[in-house]
Amino acid sequence: MLGKTIITRDEIERIVSRVAGEINRDLGEEPAVFIGVLKGCIFFFTDLVRQLKPSIEVDFIQVSSYGASTHSSGTVRLVKDITADVRDRHVFLVEDIVDTGTTLKDVANMIRARHPKSVRIVSLLSKPSRRKVEVDIAFLGAEIEDVFVVGYGLDCGEKFRNLDEIHEFLPDPE
Ligand code: IMP
Repeated sequence: MLGKTIITRDEIERIVSRVAGEINRDLGEEPAVFIGVLKGCIFFFTDLVRQLKPSIEVDFIQVSSYGASTHSSGTVRLVKDITADVRDRHVFLVEDIVDTGTTLKDVANMIRARHPKSVRIVSLLSKPSRRKVEVDIAFLGAEIEDVFVVGYGLDCGEKFRNLDEIHEFLPDPE
């Protein structure tokens, strides 16, 4: 069941503009490939890249996530690979949320194996209290407490991605 709003529409817009500004200042004139980690990144990714320098390229990768559960399975499986050649290029991995860190660590390693010039992580949200593996988030939207959230791309069992704001999600009482 949907709980209270954690991040409003206005706050999301402010967060995206600030993160885009930070990336633009950092990017310089170097070309870069922005890789969205599907599916949770969809709205953050499309809002973000439209505020970035026009010379960037976009691509997507998809790995298995929680499925219908609100707990990580702890294993990551490649579902859809990128098509871009990232060798000798700057890569930005764009994620919806870093929870235990397992997903991004694995995705970053998959990309690093293709010899990019650099790999930096951009995440809309982070739950630092849940971290199991260290992940260096170069550009972060906001930290949140250990609550399960849905909306603005984030799902629970594939539902609620289309909500315009980010809400807490509460399991049904038994
Ligand atoms: P991690 O591997 O534990 O860091 O989990 C990362 C992935 O789990 C994210 O990309 C999301 O797909 C999913 N996830 C983690 N926390 C939440 C949440 O609060 N709501 C929705 N999905 C989440």
